[in-house]
Amino acid sequence: MSRPLRILAAAAALVAAFALWLAWPDLLEPAEIETTPLDLSPERIAEGEYLARAGNCVGCHTAPGGALFAGGRSIRTPFGDVYSTNLTPDPETGIGNWTTADFWRALHHGRSKDGRRLYPAFPYPSYTYVTREDADAIFAYLMSLPPVASPRVEPALRFPYDSRFALQVWRALYFRPAAFEPDAEKDETWNRGAYLVEGLGHCKACHSPRGRLGGIDPDAAYSGGKLPGGGWEAPPLNPSGTMTDAEAAELARLLSTGISKHTAVSGPMAEVVFTSLQHLSEDDIDAIVAYVRTLPAAPSAPSSRRPFSPERYRDVLAAGATIYRERCADCHGRNGEGSPYVYPPLAGNRLVTAPEPTNLIRNVMLGGFPPSTQGNPRPHGMPPFAHQLGAADAAAVLTYIRTSWGNAAPPVTAADVERR
Ligand code: HEC
Ligand code: HEC
Ligand code: HEC
Repeated sequence: MSRPLRILAAAAALVAAFALWLAWPDLLEPAEIETTPLDLSPERIAEGEYLARAGNCVGCHTAPGGALFAGGRSIRTPFGDVYSTNLTPDPETGIGNWTTADFWRALHHGRSKDGRRLYPAFPYPSYTYVTREDADAIFAYLMSLPPVASPRVEPALRFPYDSRFALQVWRALYFRPAAFEPDAEKDETWNRGAYLVEGLGHCKACHSPRGRLGGIDPDAAYSGGKLPGGGWEAPPLNPSGTMTDAEAAELARLLSTGISKHTAVSGPMAEVVFTSLQHLSEDDIDAIVAYVRTLPAAPSAPSSRRPFSPERYRDVLAAGATIYRERCADCHGRNGEGSPYVYPPLAGNRLVTAPEPTNLIRNVMLGGFPPSTQGNPRPHGMPPFAHQLGAADAAAVLTYIRTSWGNAAPPVTAADVERR
């Protein structure tokens, strides 16, 4: 071969290798997926309803004020907004014409009925672990819903993320269809928990840091993540890597009722508990906890904040103590001891002492209610303080609670408060 030909051949080989890599996740899809018979018995539908709750499908696939499962809710990503689709059996705009195979293809391979690659705002990198059996049950449940006409809304992504090519690159980098492999060394409860957390629960999607392209480094999974759009941090799921039996029991209580002796869920997690976790059986919640307590410790993030010197902050702390006494102590106790299952203690509270005060500022400025659940039907609320406290006063009381009663977290500044 002449030299130019050799260069050409090498270039062609490179292009071919790249194309192969790019198409890899698609090539792992069988040429034909088997269509299983659709079983619409009441038992099967009930089973599917339960699994759909475990996956919180309704949370994303229902627009605010819209019909259940009719889609159209905007899902924020760092690259723009993607809209959930209509999962009701409407033949024109929903999945009324779909087979169990089409549905499996979406959940397991991340591709729509027409072959379109789906955006991972739909957490199929987690749902790929769901078994065919369970996917078929969810499909049966969805087919039993009243059909609602609700057309697809096109995603509004920024250039270059709006291209099909970008999505293909993302999939090649971060997505492989996979099956859940039980660990023979572990018991049934742990394996059930692993299946739920890694699969339907898609806890990883929120509780992990993401790289610039939105991928999750498997080694950093569950070590905490920032939700797109700003405002909330999903904390590490097992920060110290150890959990006592008593802590595990409180975690189970938190997940099923929204409140524990130590804390209450808020923001996006309150929604997860409300629409999903509170409906799970005690056994499944215990299984989730059994798995979560074995997750590795989160690497402790070196704090970029300056060490706290009480001397420098004497005036701030005095002001914060006064505000605390007047506005917070009635509920949270003079010494931040709280009241079990009603008002969270602020002493020794992980949300209060988190390195980044994001959730703390949100909780205090916006207030809120834990979700109303069967285990906690009439939760007490936390008043919003955004209209009562200026940034300096809010920073003072937050700094006070972060450094009192044994808490030792870096101070919060007025600028931190204003930024949220
Ligand atoms: C975090 C939000 C979120 C959750 C939770 C979620 N979805 Fe979705 N889903 C989406 C988005 C967004 C899309 C659209 C993706 C796109 O357009 O590429 C989608 C698309 C789909 C599609 C493809 C529809 C089509 O017309 O191609 C199916 C099927 C689907 N979801 C089923 C489910 C099921 C079943 C569950 C629960 C197990 C679920 N989704 C949970 C956000 C979500
Ligand atoms: C009327 C009673 C009440 C008052 C007054 C009140 N809180 Fe709360 N607070 C609650 C309740 C109830 C919750 C749990 C609800 C939730 O997290 O949405 C809560 C939650 C919190 C949390 C989140 C704790 C966690 O683990 O989830 C923080 C932090 C907090 N309050 C700080 C304050 C501060 C600071 C003040 C005063 C500026 C204050 N609260 C005043 C009732 C109160
Ligand atoms: C939509 C994103 C999202 C999903 C999905 C999600 N979480 Fe969360 N989670 C959050 C956010 C944000 C917080 C912080 C707010 C709070 O403390 O309530 C949180 C808080 C928590 C907390 C409280 C941590 C603490 O230290 O106080 C636990 C425990 C938790 N999540 C467990 C789970 C489990 C288990 C799953 C999967 C079944 C899950 N989460 C799925 C967003 C999510």
